[in-house]
Amino acid sequence: MKNIVILISGRGSNMEAIVRAQIPGARIAAVISNRPDAGGLAFAASHGIPTRVVDHKAYPSREAFDAALADSIDALAPDLVVLAGFMRVLTDGFVNRYNGRLLNIHPSLLPSFPGLHTHQRALEAGVRVHGTTVHFVTPTLDCGPIVIQAVVPVLPGDDEDALAARVLVQEHRIYPQAVSWFVADRLSIDAAGRVDVRAESAGPTGWTVPPVEA
Ligand code: GRF
Repeated sequence: MKNIVILISGRGSNMEAIVRAQIPGARIAAVISNRPDAGGLAFAASHGIPTRVVDHKAYPSREAFDAALADSIDALAPDLVVLAGFMRVLTDGFVNRYNGRLLNIHPSLLPSFPGLHTHQRALEAGVRVHGTTVHFVTPTLDCGPIVIQAVVPVLPGDDEDALAARVLVQEHRIYPQAVSWFVADRLSIDAAGRVDVRAESAGPTGWTVPPVEA
């Protein structure tokens, strides 16, 4: 079993997708939020998953918060830390501590549109396709090795909410897939910093990401 700790800040729908996927070989050790009012905490608790709050407002600096967060995570002995709508920029020290075992999902086709307001920026740029990316986290924001991406069309008449909703459906498909690959030891990073997804061999087999409802 691989221990997974999921960090959230809000509604936690990606966390929910990962929990619901029931990935063979994965045990969700805890869900940690930096906000006491994060909606996703209730879902986790109702599914018997331990929850913790490390409130960033209780700490005088980013470094102090990240140190407290790392203490809370390390107590759970995680194999993988999953950022799922975790809305805090993490210090380099924190990121390096979890090098190679820290995943994030970003709502754009990286390297396009790192940072915030990705859907609005995609609309403003007039791109015809948009999407989402799961990547390993490195100190440079939204720049780490890409594990999986999903593409959606940008349709005439789209507004930010419509486009975000179309992307979110794909987020819920690719994040469990990326986690399952990690858990099955199928991910490695090559010398050029690109992710290789090994063919299925030993380890959990026969699991594939559930289909997305249209
Ligand atoms: C998602 O769009 C994710 O890509 C971004 O923040 C949002 C989180 O949504 N990082 P949720 O909390 O998982 O519902």
